[in-house]
Amino acid sequence: MARTQTIFVTLVCIILSSARTSSSSAAYSSDVDAFLSCLSADIPPALIYTPANNYSSVLLSSVRNLRYVMPGTTGPLVIVAATEPAHVQTTVVCGRRHSVHVRTRSGGHDYEGLSYASVDPHRRHFAVLDLAALRAIHIDGSRAEAWVGSGATLGELYYAAAAANRTFGFPAGNCPTVGVGGHLSGGGFGALSPKYGLSADNVLDAVVVDAEGRLLNRSTMGEDLFWAIRGGGGESFGVVVSWKVRLVPVTETVTVFSIRRRRNESAVDLITKWQAIAPALPRDLYLRVLVRNQQADFVALFLGRCGILVDTMRRHFRDLGMAERDCQEMSWVKSTVFFYYGTADLPAEVLLNRSSNPYYYLKVKSDHVQEAMPRHAWEIIWSKWLDKPEAALLQLDPYGGQMGSISPSATPFPHRNYLYQFQIYSVWFDSRNGTAAVLEKQRVMMSWVRGLYNDLTPYVSKNPRAVYVNYRDLDLGTNELDEGGNVTSYAKARVWGEKYFKDNFERLAAVKSKVDPHDFFRNEQSIPPLPAAAK
Ligand SMILES: Cc1cc2nc3c(=O)[nH]c(=O)nc-3n(C[C@H](O)[C@H](O)[C@H](O)COP(=O)(O)OP(=O)(O)OC[C@H]3O[C@@H](n4cnc5c(N)ncnc54)[C@H](O)[C@@H]3O)c2cc1C
Ligand SMILES: *[C@@H]1O[C@H](CO)[C@@H](O)[C@H](O)[C@H]1NC(C)=O
Ligand SMILES: *[C@@H]1O[C@H](CO)[C@@H](O)[C@H](O)[C@H]1NC(C)=O
Ligand SMILES: *[C@@H]1O[C@H](CO)[C@@H](O)[C@H](O)[C@H]1NC(C)=O
Ligand SMILES: *[C@@H]1O[C@H](CO)[C@@H](O)[C@H](O)[C@H]1NC(C)=O
Ligand SMILES: *[C@@H]1O[C@H](CO)[C@@H](O)[C@H](O)[C@H]1NC(C)=O
Ligand SMILES: *[C@@H]1O[C@H](CO)[C@@H](O)[C@H](O)[C@H]1NC(C)=O
Ligand SMILES: *[C@@H]1O[C@H](CO)[C@@H](O)[C@H](O)[C@H]1NC(C)=O
Repeated sequence: MARTQTIFVTLVCIILSSARTSSSSAAYSSDVDAFLSCLSADIPPALIYTPANNYSSVLLSSVRNLRYVMPGTTGPLVIVAATEPAHVQTTVVCGRRHSVHVRTRSGGHDYEGLSYASVDPHRRHFAVLDLAALRAIHIDGSRAEAWVGSGATLGELYYAAAAANRTFGFPAGNCPTVGVGGHLSGGGFGALSPKYGLSADNVLDAVVVDAEGRLLNRSTMGEDLFWAIRGGGGESFGVVVSWKVRLVPVTETVTVFSIRRRRNESAVDLITKWQAIAPALPRDLYLRVLVRNQQADFVALFLGRCGILVDTMRRHFRDLGMAERDCQEMSWVKSTVFFYYGTADLPAEVLLNRSSNPYYYLKVKSDHVQEAMPRHAWEIIWSKWLDKPEAALLQLDPYGGQMGSISPSATPFPHRNYLYQFQIYSVWFDSRNGTAAVLEKQRVMMSWVRGLYNDLTPYVSKNPRAVYVNYRDLDLGTNELDEGGNVTSYAKARVWGEKYFKDNFERLAAVKSKVDPHDFFRNEQSIPPLPAAAK
C-alpha cells in the first residue's frame, strides 16, 4: 500500500511490464477448429494467436487489470490481431458461422476486463479481436477533422492533432494509453469536456463492421446505429473500425496548476465549496479534485494565459488562494502530459508510449452528485474512510458548461445535469507469488471501495444511481440469457442498464434488436435486444 500511496494518481496506467501467463484452460472443441480454419482462409496465420502460439504476450499487451488474468477468469480461445478491416469482417462472419462470440479490444482499459476476459464459466466460447494495429490517424487540417483508427491511443491522437496545428485539441480522457475504440464507444470525458462535451459529442462519422460482417459508414448504417455507438458502451452493436472526429480549437498557450491542501489546511471546507463552484466556472476553466493521503489536489486546465486565470480564480474561488506562482504556461499537448504524469518536464513524445505495466489491480466505483454534499458528510468520508491504510483515491470531475448544454437524449450518455462525477478509484500493486495472499489483499481493497460507495448513498444520484458506462462496474448486475436461452434477457439487463443509460436504455435495446437480433455481440453487460412484446 505504501507504494500505491506514493504514486501520482494519474500515473496508474503506467507500468513496469512483466508477463504473466494466462489462466485460460478452455478446451478446444471441433467448432473452434472449424472457426480457425474459416479464419485462415482470409487472415494470415501470423495474425492468429492460439495458446500454442505466443498467445500470452499478445493477450497481456494491453491488460490493465490483473484481477482478470487471475485463476478463475476465462481468457479467449483465440486472438485475432487484425491489420485491416477485412480481417474484422472475416472474424465476425466466421464467428457467426461457428458460434464463437467475439470480444473487441482496442486499448484494453475496460475496468472489468470485458474486452479480453470473462468471470462467467458459461461464457468461455469467445475470441478476442485485437485492434491495436488499426491505429492510423489522418488529419484534415483545413477542416479541423480527423479519421482515427480504434486501435489508436488517446495519447497518439493528442500528439497527431497538435503536430498538425498547435490550435487543435480533442476532448477525451486524461490517461494517454486508453484506446480510442472503447473510449468513444462509452462517451469519453476529460479536461476539455466542460468546454466541448464528451469525445462522443464530437464524432462526425464512423466505419463499423456489423453482425452480418458488412462494412458500414454513417450514411449506410443509419442514424439509429450511429446514435447508439456514440456512448452506448463498447461491444454491443458491432466493431467500430475507425471514427471521424471534430478537432476543437485550443489556445496556443494554456495554463495549468495543481494546488495541494491538507486536511489541516481547510481541505474539507474547500471541497465543500468546490462542489458548487467548479461546475459554474467559465467553460475555459476545468478544475478537478483528487483526494488521497489526507490531502486534496485541485488540478486545473485553463484555455488562456496566467494573468486571466489568476483573475478568474480570484473572482470565483478566492478561498483556494491561487496565485501567479501556481501557474504553468504551456502548449495544450504538453498539458495532456502534465495531467497524466503530474509534470510537464517530459517531451510530448511520451504520449506515443503505448506500453503500460500490467502489474496492477483495479476496482473503481463511480456516481454522480446533483446537490452539493454537506460539510459533515465530507468530514465523515475523511475520518471514516480516508484514514484507513487501504484508502485509495477519490476523483471529483466537474460537469456544467457544455456537458449540461447537451440534451440527455442527444447521445446514449444521459447524465448531463449533475454538478460532478465521483470516482472511488482503488489501484493496488501486488507482485507476490501466492494466490491466497493476493486474494486477501483484493478482498480488503474491494471492500473499501464498496463500503465507501454504500455510505455515499444518501448524497448521490438516486432511482436509479447514475453511473458512467466507461467506468464499468459489474457489481451493478450482469447479463443472463432469457428463457429461450438464445439472447440476453432484457428484464434482467434493465437493472444495470438504466443506471448507465436511464431512459436511453430502451432505445439502445431497440437499436440492438434491429442490428444484432441474434445477440452475437455480447458480454456480461452488453445491451440486450428488446423483447418482441415491447417493440
Ligand atoms: C487508467 C485508466 C484511466 C482512465 N481515464 C479515463 C478518463 O479520464 N476519462 C474517461 O472517460 N474514461 C477513462 N477511463 C475509462 C476508459 O474510457 C474506458 O475503460 C474505455 O472503455 C477504455 O477503452 P479501451 O479501448 O482502452 O478499452 P477496451 O478494454 O479495449 O474496450 C472497452 C469496451 O469497449 C469494447 N470495445 C473496444 N473497442 C471497440 C471497438 N472498436 N468497437 C466496439 N467495441 C469496442 C470492448 O469490447 C469493451 O467492452 C480510464 C480507464 C483506465 C483504466
Ligand atoms: C514506456 O512506458 C513503460 C511503462 O511505463 C516504460 O517502462 C518505458 O521505459 C517507456 N518507454 C519509453 C521509450 O519511454
Ligand atoms: C513468438 O514470438 C517470438 C518473438 O516475437 C518469435 O520469435 C516466435 O517465432 C513466435 N512463435 C510463434 C510460434 O509464432
Ligand atoms: C492552424 O489553425 C488555425 C485555425 O484554424 C489557422 O488559422 C492556422 O492557419 C493553422 N495553422 C497552420 C500552420 O496550419
Ligand atoms: C459511405 O459509404 C458509401 C458506400 O460505400 C460511400 O458511397 C460513401 O462515399 C461513404 N461516405 C463517406 C462519408 O465516406
Ligand atoms: C498540517 O499537518 C502537517 C503534517 O501533519 C504539518 O507539517 C503542517 O505544519 C500542518 N499545517 C498546519 C497549517 O497546521
Ligand atoms: C512461485 O513460487 C514457487 C515456489 O517459490 C515457484 O516454484 C514458482 O515458479 C513461482 N511462480 C511464479 C509465477 O513466480
Ligand atoms: C433458439 O435456440 C433454439 C435451439 O437452440 C432454436 O431452435 C431456435 O430457433 C432459437 N430461436 C431463435 C429466435 O433464434
